[in-house]
Amino acid sequence: TALPLLAIALAYLIGSLSFAVIVSRVMGLNDPRSYGSGNPGATNVLRSGNKKAAILTLLLDAIKGAVPVLLVRGLETPMGWGPDLAAWAGLAAFIGHLWPVFFKFKGGKGVATAAGVLLALEPGLGVLTLLTWLAIAYTTRYSSLAAIMAALSVPLYQMLIWGASATSLALVPMCLLLVWRHEGNIRKLFAGEESKIGQKASGAA
Ligand code: G3P
Repeated sequence: TALPLLAIALAYLIGSLSFAVIVSRVMGLNDPRSYGSGNPGATNVLRSGNKKAAILTLLLDAIKGAVPVLLVRGLETPMGWGPDLAAWAGLAAFIGHLWPVFFKFKGGKGVATAAGVLLALEPGLGVLTLLTWLAIAYTTRYSSLAAIMAALSVPLYQMLIWGASATSLALVPMCLLLVWRHEGNIRKLFAGEESKIGQKASGAA
């Protein structure tokens, strides 16, 4: 039936809620697309100097990744859906964050949303990936580098600890897209021009 497709479409719509933009608007801050990296994400909102707005963005962008996964997981048995649909719903939410229908398809890099998807889908893998992000972010102070390394470690952890499964297949495009979205950050990292976590941007407030 069309219900699984509807679930995927709904996940995409939820993912399309760009909370960096929404939270900034509600809190009366400048649009994060207008300063710093121009990225609508928690890291860039932090460059406004408003920690509360950044944390709220991080949490809401992560929650919107987790919600479709958990909803589909909960409906799996009563609806007779396969176990992989939850992972594809997570991927759809992630894609919504990258290309949001509500924001002219100009979205973010998907780090917080991917974290939400992972934590909901495979909590163990999610926590391990989160710890990887934290360790690299803490030691290097680069949010982007931490995200890239954490994303690359996901398939590695999956293979080494849990073993590849059909569910984990959806994680591969998510991790690849995440790294690809950091192309500009990678250039800046190599050029030594990447800004560190919490460095304020000019023109942010
Ligand atoms: O949350 C995305 C992060 O990895 C990089 O963000 O603003 O530094 O490009 P930004």
